[in-house]
Amino acid sequence: MTPRALFRKLAQQLGSSTTKALIAAIYGDFARFVAQERVTSEQAYAIHQSALRLLRGEPVQYVVGRCEFMSLSFQVNPDVLIPRSDTETLVEIVLERSSPEDVYFDLGTGSGAIAVALSYYGKMRGYAVDISNAALDIARKNAQLNGVSEKIRFIQCDSLTPLWNPSIYREVSIIVSNPPYIPTHMLKSLPPEVQREPRIALDGGPDGLAHYRRIFQEFRELIRGKRIYMELAPYEAKSLEKIIRNAGVRDYTFFEDLDSIVRYVEVQA
Ligand SMILES: C[S@@+](CC[C@H](N)C(=O)[O-])C[C@H]1O[C@@H](n2cnc3c(N)ncnc32)[C@H](O)[C@@H]1O
Repeated sequence: MTPRALFRKLAQQLGSSTTKALIAAIYGDFARFVAQERVTSEQAYAIHQSALRLLRGEPVQYVVGRCEFMSLSFQVNPDVLIPRSDTETLVEIVLERSSPEDVYFDLGTGSGAIAVALSYYGKMRGYAVDISNAALDIARKNAQLNGVSEKIRFIQCDSLTPLWNPSIYREVSIIVSNPPYIPTHMLKSLPPEVQREPRIALDGGPDGLAHYRRIFQEFRELIRGKRIYMELAPYEAKSLEKIIRNAGVRDYTFFEDLDSIVRYVEVQA
């Protein structure tokens, strides 16, 4: 089959821009692909398999195994949340308020997006932790891919528990997290492609705030003296503020996203 014939066939199902993007993602360059005389059977098979996954509703980033975050390239697979542009703003907030001497603790690192970007742009060292070993495998690869492996220590753990270790507690100055924050009852109404992402990365408990509550209540001792930066769902600011105040903390600032919706908080605990 010629490349153009294959392209036309797929474009009927996926649309021409998705087909072009898919071929470019798999072969690096769409123009070079169509310039070939014939498509090998291996190429045709690989493209058909990817097209089938897209047609079944898998996010394109999982199908091509890659995405961009803060202009850096990340590997992704269904074990990790696909990093969002909302989280780029969280990283920018941290970068503006930190220095290379700070040591971060990226709680729920997933693909490693936040940790890798902080080490890459902010030259910081830090800890990248997650409850999921499968996610940590991807995060380690992404640190390598972006040349910051030496700056990041990866730990499989539950929430802030590594901070019970006095030497880690002393070292860490910044806690940063984009925790799972979707209320459990809303998971079923998420768009189908979002439902393909790991439930453990999305499910924030009955009201979406379970992870924030643990940080400010269960781990109150461990956050003392730390600066905390977190992303939150658009409708959670008021309830999160109550949780923060109930922990006796008064030094905090909420930040809006580009649509003027409150999506981030900085806390001096
Ligand atoms: C919303 S995702 C964020 C991923 C990544 N930081 C990002 O912003 O793209 C939340 C992450 O928290 C992890 N997680 C969930 N529960 C956790 C827990 N109790 N302790 C540590 N990590 C947890 C999930 O595995 C998931 O990778």
